[in-house]
Amino acid sequence: MNQRPRRNRRTPALRNMVRETRMTVDNLIYPLFLVDGKKIKKEVKSLPGNYRWSLDLLLGEIEECMDLGLRNFILFPAVRESLKDKKATYSHHPKNFYLKAAKTIKKRFPECCLISDVAMDPYSSDGHDGLVKKGMILNDLTLPILGKMAVAQARAGFDLIGPSDMMDGRIGFIRRALDQAGCEDTGIMSYCAKYASAFYGPFRDALDSAPKAGDKKTYQMDPANKREALIEAKLDIVEGADFLMVKPAIHYLDVIHSLRENTHLPIAAYHVSGECAMLVAAAQKGWLDFDQAMPEALLSIRRAGADVILTYFAKMWAAKYG
Ligand code: PBG
Repeated sequence: MNQRPRRNRRTPALRNMVRETRMTVDNLIYPLFLVDGKKIKKEVKSLPGNYRWSLDLLLGEIEECMDLGLRNFILFPAVRESLKDKKATYSHHPKNFYLKAAKTIKKRFPECCLISDVAMDPYSSDGHDGLVKKGMILNDLTLPILGKMAVAQARAGFDLIGPSDMMDGRIGFIRRALDQAGCEDTGIMSYCAKYASAFYGPFRDALDSAPKAGDKKTYQMDPANKREALIEAKLDIVEGADFLMVKPAIHYLDVIHSLRENTHLPIAAYHVSGECAMLVAAAQKGWLDFDQAMPEALLSIRRAGADVILTYFAKMWAAKYG
């Protein structure tokens, strides 16, 4: 035999030398859930090890992450039902606790990268990412709301704006709104190929943000489609996105790979709540070894072509392997 691939697998030194994919903490983004109030740290039942935090305690959590070298965060608000309305007005209200928290976090940790969430659902009494009229999601009337939300977030100090709503044309609309407001240095991480997935369940529990009626299939993508992700990518690139995101990650590795092969922007992949919960639940049952399965899952997402991974395991990974 001329070729014996096992020769390069013989020792740890050889294996380390020929390893094609590597993970560092710089490849990770840690999602955090924020609630209004004080001294709150409430575990998300379906996402063990993750919490709804009030800002005072969240600052401590962020500090711990920074000490581990993990400095990329995406922040989601859990909003009281009484503050929700049809137009998500609270999303750009000057007294919004999420915007105030961003200011405090960036002041305390200027070297962190803080990413926002732009979508109506946490603030919408309908629980949808767009404006609802007679059961329909109105695309173009949603855009100005997203624009206002994005500008308010940029002014609060977020480094990247993260539109997760899947309305058509929103990247261009938000880019123009940001530029007109003098926020031309604030980037956009676009949820470019976001699928109507069953794996968002624990997240919606965490935020109480599930749709009150209907589903999200008229705006989020059909899990059966891959070419369509390239259409979305092309639009987002032309409209001014700085990152393209694929979501979920583990069940859509082919989509990540396809975007990597066909586009040039950095790619983010969202290892979503349900995908993380699956691993934790199987490990709790003793059906798989979490300490081996978790890094393997993240590595697979990198191998498919993602530059950065949003994962609820980010802090754990940083603590164990960072
Ligand atoms: C909503 C949003 C969702 C997630 C991130 N932003 C849920 C949804 O689209 O219903 C899901 C993230 C996860 O499951 O971890 N704009």
